[in-house]
Amino acid sequence: MPDKLSVAEARRAEAVGRDVVLQGWVRTRRDSKAGFSFIELNDGSSFGNIQVVAGAELEDYEAVVKRLSAGCSVSVEGLVKESPGKGQATEIQATRVVLHGTADVETYPLQKKRHSFEFLRTIAHLRPRTNTFGAIARVRNCVCNSIHGLFQEEGFLYVHTPVITASDCEGAGEMFQVTTLPLDNTPKQGPQVDFTQDFFDRPAFLTVSGQLEAETFACGLGKAYTFGPTFRAENSNTARHLAEFWMIEPEMAFCDLAGNMDLAERLLKRICGDVLTKCPEDMEFFNLRIDKTVIETLQQIVDVEFIRLPYTEAVEILKGCSEKFEFAVEWGVDLQSEHERYLTEKHFASPVIVYDYPRTIKPFYMRLNDDDRTVCAMDVLVPRVGEIVGGSQREERLDVLELRMCDQDLNPEDYWWYLDLRRFGTVPHAGFGLGLERVIQFITGMSNIRDVIPFPRTPGNAEF
Ligand code: 4AD
Ligand code: MG
Repeated sequence: MPDKLSVAEARRAEAVGRDVVLQGWVRTRRDSKAGFSFIELNDGSSFGNIQVVAGAELEDYEAVVKRLSAGCSVSVEGLVKESPGKGQATEIQATRVVLHGTADVETYPLQKKRHSFEFLRTIAHLRPRTNTFGAIARVRNCVCNSIHGLFQEEGFLYVHTPVITASDCEGAGEMFQVTTLPLDNTPKQGPQVDFTQDFFDRPAFLTVSGQLEAETFACGLGKAYTFGPTFRAENSNTARHLAEFWMIEPEMAFCDLAGNMDLAERLLKRICGDVLTKCPEDMEFFNLRIDKTVIETLQQIVDVEFIRLPYTEAVEILKGCSEKFEFAVEWGVDLQSEHERYLTEKHFASPVIVYDYPRTIKPFYMRLNDDDRTVCAMDVLVPRVGEIVGGSQREERLDVLELRMCDQDLNPEDYWWYLDLRRFGTVPHAGFGLGLERVIQFITGMSNIRDVIPFPRTPGNAEF
C-alpha cells in the first residue's frame, strides 16, 4: 500500500524510494515531445509544487492526464525519485492519476498569468489557490501558533472574552450595533427607541476590544490574554484598517509600563523569529516578489533592542525635521501614520515604542502620569505599517478613573463592574493590543491589509 504524504513531505530527499499517494490541485501541465507529461502539483502544505512525471504508458493517459489543466483536483500514486531538475530534490514517477474535479480552461479564473491583488479580492473564495495567498495563510498560521506558544510558556491564561458587549472600550463610539428590533418599526418610548424591548434589554454592540473583560481575569488570576475578532465601524478606507480584525490582548497584574513594553518586544521578536525559521520558503517568495526588504526587516526585529521614546520627544523630532508632512505636528495632537513611519523608517531606522501620550487623545482607562498632562500609554511602531501595538498601564485608582470617565463624557455607572476591580483589591496592571493583520502585513510586505485576512470586511464589502 502506498503511503499518503503531503507535497511538503514528498519534496524532501528522505522520501526518495517511497511509494506514495499525493492529493492536490494541478498548477500546470506540460507535455514533452517524447510522449509524457509534467504536472506541477500543489496541496497547500508548502510553497513549492512537486513535479509529477506521467508517462504515456499509464492507463488513462489520454483520457485523464491529457485533460489536466490548472485547477483540476487529482490523486497521484507513484514512486518518489531523486529529481534531475534544478531547484527540487524529488519528483514523482506516476503509476496512476485519478481526476476528481475538472476546471474549465475557459471559465476558471486562475490561469497561468499573474493577477492583480485587486482582481483577486473579487474572487476571495479562489485566491487561497494562488502562490501569494497560500504563503500568507501559512505565515498567518505560524504567527498564531507563536503567539499561543509564547503566552502558554510564560504562564498566561487564555480567556475568551465576549464578542457582543454593552460597553465601548475605546470610548470612540465606533461600534456596530447588535439588535433584533425591527428596523422599520422600532418600539419607542417617547422619541427614543425603547431598547428594553431589544434582545438584551439594552443597546448591545460588537466589541471593539476584549481588554475590559481581560482585565477582570488579570485582576484575579494574574496574567491572561484574549485573542479574538474585534469590530470597528470607522469609515476609514485605508490600506491599514479593517472593520473586522483579530486582536491579541495580554493583560498582566502587578505590571507597569516598562514591563508591558518588555512583553510587547518579546512577543514581536518571537513571532518574527519563528516565521524566519518555520516559513523560509514563503518568506523568500515575499522577499523576491513583494518587498525586497522583508527578511532583513524581520531579522532586525529579532536582533535590535527597540527604541523607547517619550511622545514629547517624538513631537520635538518631528517638528525639527525637514520632512514635509501632510498633517502638521503639534503637542497634544495624535501622530499620523506618516509621522509614525518617519520615526521608525527614517529617523531611527528601527522599531520604536512611543510612550507617555497626552491624556486628551487617549482612552479613559490609561493611567494618569504625575505631570497630569500625559498618560502611561505606549504604541509600538514598525517600518511600513506604523502602529502595530497599542497599550498602556491601566488606571488602578478608583477616584482618578472616575474623573477620567467623566472627562470623556462616559457615565461611571455604566462601568460599575469595571470600577469594582478598583474597589476591591486593586493592583497596578498593564496590557496591550496587537493587531494580527498589521503584523501579517508587516511580515509579508503586503501593502493592503485586505490581502492578509481571508475575507476582508471594509465599508461596502462583505460579499464572501
Ligand atoms: O490601539 P488600539 O485601538 O487599542 C485597543 O483597542 C486597546 N484596548 C488594546 C489593549 O490595550 N488591550 O488597537 C490595538 C491594535 C492597533 O495597534 C492595531 O495594530 C490594531 O489593533 N488595529 C487595527 N487593525 C486593523 N484594522 C483596524 N481598524 C484597527 N484598529 C486597531
Ligand atoms: Mg491605537
